[in-house]
Amino acid sequence: MRRVLTLLAAALCVLVSVAAAASPVIQNIHARQHQSLNGRWNYIIDPYETGFYDYRRQPFDASAGGKGGYFDDRTQVGKGELVEYNFDLSPSMTVPGDWNSQAERLLFYEGTVWLRQVFQADPRPGKNYFLYFGAVNYEAHVYLNGKKLGTHKGGFTPFQFDVTGKLARGRNFVVVKADNKRQQDEIPTVNTDWWNYGGITRDVLLAELPASYIADYKVQLAKGDLKRIEGYVQLAGAARAQAVTVAIPEAGIKVTVMSDANGRAQLSLPVAKMTYWSPENPKLYKVELAAGEDRVVDRIGFRTIETRGRDILLNGKSVFLRGISVHDENPLIPGRLRGAGDMRMILQWAKEMNANYVRLAHYPHSEEMVRLADEMGLMVWAEVPVYWTISWTNPATFANANAQLTDLIVRDKNRSSVIIWSVGNETPVSEPRNDFMGRLVQTARANDDTRLVAAALEVHRRETDIIMEDPLADKIDLISFNQYAGWYWSNPKEMLKWRFNLTQDKPVVISEFGADALGGYHADEDTRWSEEYQELLYLNQFKMLDAIPGLRGMTPWILVDFRSPRRPHPQFQDFWNRKGLVSETGKKKKAFFTLKNYYDDKQKKFK
Ligand code: GCU
Repeated sequence: MRRVLTLLAAALCVLVSVAAAASPVIQNIHARQHQSLNGRWNYIIDPYETGFYDYRRQPFDASAGGKGGYFDDRTQVGKGELVEYNFDLSPSMTVPGDWNSQAERLLFYEGTVWLRQVFQADPRPGKNYFLYFGAVNYEAHVYLNGKKLGTHKGGFTPFQFDVTGKLARGRNFVVVKADNKRQQDEIPTVNTDWWNYGGITRDVLLAELPASYIADYKVQLAKGDLKRIEGYVQLAGAARAQAVTVAIPEAGIKVTVMSDANGRAQLSLPVAKMTYWSPENPKLYKVELAAGEDRVVDRIGFRTIETRGRDILLNGKSVFLRGISVHDENPLIPGRLRGAGDMRMILQWAKEMNANYVRLAHYPHSEEMVRLADEMGLMVWAEVPVYWTISWTNPATFANANAQLTDLIVRDKNRSSVIIWSVGNETPVSEPRNDFMGRLVQTARANDDTRLVAAALEVHRRETDIIMEDPLADKIDLISFNQYAGWYWSNPKEMLKWRFNLTQDKPVVISEFGADALGGYHADEDTRWSEEYQELLYLNQFKMLDAIPGLRGMTPWILVDFRSPRRPHPQFQDFWNRKGLVSETGKKKKAFFTLKNYYDDKQKKFK
């Protein structure tokens, strides 16, 4: 009886959140007619959620324009009226941007902050309007002109609200209650090794679309088939059944198909001649889609990615993934990456070590970052923050993880750079976990059968053998795992007595290894935290890893030092994880060049 009630309760809360949740995100929204709402937003720090609950902890009701809540920007205060907040007189911060790096007193802050932006609008009849957020960490309650639009959970995926008919002609204001408090049953859960940056961390825009519009599309090569494009175009709005044209002029492709009553047009296009996308030649084609009044243009690369035995095949050819792990953080001005400049800096460092692949850890990075990887020729491992000790048996937790994975795939399914969907990192083996992760693998395959599915697993030691016995390895396409030989166990010299004994007939991709080194701290190779220790560890890791017959890639941990609340050592860390090959000041450490040399060799071997 108790179990039935719990399940009912959980199902109910999923239903509630879905009812108030956002509408499916429009594909490639930045290419649509839109008004940016980025800029300076006034904010109110509200640790006790005084703007959301009354003193009896009853939520103020925004649906009926209830008074008291900070969702109403209350610029006009009647004589003698008591109003204890005022956005106009409150400080402001830059959006997109995390709050932790914009005010000293918010560096460690976890809780609620209210953010308000005022904008002018001139809504036109017959048009659809969507208020879009690239990402808000973690739980967002969104209000337009004092009325609740809905909520969203998950700090790294986009969401939007249909605001057609809700815009005023002239002055409008949007208020976001953002709360980045960590909770056990959320995704991620309470314990992570990255900074819990809060706020509206990616673009906010108001999009205007015709009465019927192209809501979504997938235009990619069919699985393992270099000669056929397979996909669909999904229309939404008034007239859903109509002619849809898809053109790729440079490839001599142009086709018109009819969408069905639900607005769905299936695509199956033969490919005569095409330059396939690869890191060496990241060719992107202009793709034009049109239906009725609506037009959208995208830049898409075409490539196939598969495994065959222990090989990874890119466009049918065996490839070695010369990678590096990356967090979504600018070390020079600690905070979430703030735009194309920051992102290009990070990816350029990866290119300078001759990488052709990056692991965007441990959560969906911005769409802009992935599009830049398309352009710069870097293959991508994309991941959802199912990290460490998740609440495996809680249905709401699974629904949340499943939604984040689906949103990631929906957003980036046309990005040729993305070759791997990862369903999580270092999750402890147990029946409930195996079931949870197994269902996420199914979700990934159901949403996209053209890419590989993986996870960052863990290995075990038996005497001097390092083996993979995680049952999830049977469900994914790679033997991908993190191992910290020489740092969390053994040392760079002694570790050589161990050997990887991996029996599975699948490609082996090392998702993490590494060691902390304080940039500029030099000592002998046995001294932890020194660049020399890190360098020797890399050299000896290569010796161990090259002995693995199926080794087909790696993403050492990590490209750049990054902020972590778990790293307080005053001399060597000061709340930085120092496993970067580039220091927080942008200086390359010795091991950066050690890895570059190794990749130069690999490139010669995997010509
Ligand atoms: C883990 C984890 C990373 C972490 C790293 C470390 O494996 O996946 O998020 O930062 O180890 O300890 O440095």
